[in-house]
Amino acid sequence: MEKIVVENSGKLNGRVRVSGAKNSTLPIIAASLLGTEDIILEEVPRLKDVEIICEVLRALGATVEDIDEHTIRINSSNLKTYETKFDLMNKMRASFLVMGPLLGRIGKAKCALPGGCTIGARPIDLHLKGFSALGVEYTEHYGDLESGEDSYILAHTEKLVGDKVYLDFPSVGATENIMMAAVLAKGRTIIENAAMEPEIVDLSNFLRKLGANIKGAGTNTIIIDGVEKLHGARHQIIPDRIEAGTFMVAAAITGGDVVVENVISDHLRPVISKLEEAGCEITEEEDNIHVKGPEELKCINIKTLPYPGFPTDMQAQFMAMMTQCDKTNIVMETVFENRFMHADEFNKMGADIKIKDRSAMVTGVSKLQGTDVRATDLRCGAALILAGLVAEGETHIHDIYHIERGYEDVIKKFSGLGAKIKRVEE
Ligand code: UD1
Repeated sequence: MEKIVVENSGKLNGRVRVSGAKNSTLPIIAASLLGTEDIILEEVPRLKDVEIICEVLRALGATVEDIDEHTIRINSSNLKTYETKFDLMNKMRASFLVMGPLLGRIGKAKCALPGGCTIGARPIDLHLKGFSALGVEYTEHYGDLESGEDSYILAHTEKLVGDKVYLDFPSVGATENIMMAAVLAKGRTIIENAAMEPEIVDLSNFLRKLGANIKGAGTNTIIIDGVEKLHGARHQIIPDRIEAGTFMVAAAITGGDVVVENVISDHLRPVISKLEEAGCEITEEEDNIHVKGPEELKCINIKTLPYPGFPTDMQAQFMAMMTQCDKTNIVMETVFENRFMHADEFNKMGADIKIKDRSAMVTGVSKLQGTDVRATDLRCGAALILAGLVAEGETHIHDIYHIERGYEDVIKKFSGLGAKIKRVEE
């Protein structure tokens, strides 16, 4: 087992290049099951989660090969099964995104039921509601946990037929899964109250290159007219707005001066605006964002919301920063019901954070002290690195596999900005 050790690093300075977006890559690789010719994907980040989804595809019969460090070739012309491997599915919730493509392509799918995770129950009722509307019948099988039996969903359809689907909540995963099933359905599917995240637009752009007929991605109504067949395409994944936001907060919390390269500023409006409120000076350049942190951070409030609101995936990193903001800062988490696990870890470092229901009150400025902490999930891990940069002494972050699920070359990128950070054996 390895851990990450971070020391107080002073002001971070320099340039850092953001990788392709994990949350675009995963659904786009899943959607590659729909095409029957070669698909080339560029700017694919080298991450554990990406490896897992590639393995899921291989186990279904697709070929997935590396062309170079960030480019892969996928060919799904000969799928050999509709049954996904339980041990792979179980490793990552997003594996459930192969269900829509399998139903579209072969009308059948067997997928492990994704369990809850530390940030909340994360049900899949909206995915299933959408599939049902398109004519899918499914049964849920609950294995006996004690004897290690798998729990899974078995779904099939004679022919997918488009229909109207209203999502009670604009779920990112449900919108993606339903879109991927609908592209090969007969007739028109309309997804209402759809998620509007940039990753949905990226998936739609990719599917359109394969030959799909989709309109409205990026708005709350997506219209999909089914086509007979999808072919191949070449596609470049968009930059990771959450990785970009994390480095922007690194500049802010250390009072540093960082140019974050390979960003689409429009995807980061709420993050830019909240960092400016906290006192940062931000300049948007063509593909870069330049952030200068202030000597003293001002207090701010944030409320997480579906896009274009403030992203829940930036909440932990902002909470780390708020421990260094003046006076009282309030965080409201409205997307996931249990996404405050990181608060306990910050409190171990000397922060003053109180949780009540879905709100957290963060009182600054705290003198953080390095200690042993645990990355309870991916974004918590990133936020602990940020806290470690300004804490006295050494911060030892355990369970770092979470961080490697979502941040490519995290040690190299932070070190490049002058951070004192290393990975060591436990
Ligand atoms: C995706 C992102 C994740 C991000 C989240 C919200 C990927 C691989 N992951 O996750 O990083 O934090 O969007 O921006 O893209 N819900 C239901 N029923 C459903 C589906 C979801 O009630 O069928 C609820 C969830 O419990 C949660 C909320 O909807 O409270 C948002 O979940 P969702 O948008 O689906 O997130 P994911 O797609 O899992």
